[in-house]
Amino acid sequence: MTQSISPWTASNMKDANAQFESQVQRFLEDIIKDKSRHARFLNMLSMLEHKGSRRIMLSQMDQVLTQDTLQHLAEEARHAYFFKRQAERVAGHSLNGWTKDNTMCIEPSLMYFGRLGVGVENEVGRKSAYSWVSLVVELRACWFYEIYQDVLEHSNDHMSLKSILAEEDKHLSDMFAMCDGKYETLEKLSNYETKLFARLWPQLEQSSNQLKNAA
Ligand SMILES: [Fe+2]
Ligand SMILES: [Fe+2]
Repeated sequence: MTQSISPWTASNMKDANAQFESQVQRFLEDIIKDKSRHARFLNMLSMLEHKGSRRIMLSQMDQVLTQDTLQHLAEEARHAYFFKRQAERVAGHSLNGWTKDNTMCIEPSLMYFGRLGVGVENEVGRKSAYSWVSLVVELRACWFYEIYQDVLEHSNDHMSLKSILAEEDKHLSDMFAMCDGKYETLEKLSNYETKLFARLWPQLEQSSNQLKNAA
């Protein structure tokens, strides 16, 4: 009964985010031409992937860890590693950890992630937070990485996000299955995430512009 609907339809995420598509695309086109800013941006993605992996681990401390959850956790950790490696490739030197100097928009992006966890937990409770936070994060990750991949394909940078996109897409359908047809909750939480993204986005642009002007 509920199988045929996709997480995109159920969440209304793409329609709610259509307004951001062209600005995100322009931002990415601009940033990949500038190694110094691109490296910091990649390091920010590495940090967020790491936080995602860490959150899965922490949320499962008092649960029975399944193979599926361990796989999810390992794949998010691999994404953090992938973006760190790409950030260092672009920078041409190592970028250890995540600091204000080597990571773009560090505080607002951590705030986005923190608020998302708190807001979702308030809505669905602590025990269910893992799958719901993951679900709305996977929607954002798939949406964002698809635009990014498209921009990369039209550039001179040969980085490919295809393997990451395949994994995020699989996480998205796994988490969608776990939400058990509660589409109203999904739309509500996805809207909440979109509001947080709308708040984060101008801060990311500002952070990038500041670096551009300082160069
Ligand atoms: Fe990821
Ligand atoms: Fe994921």
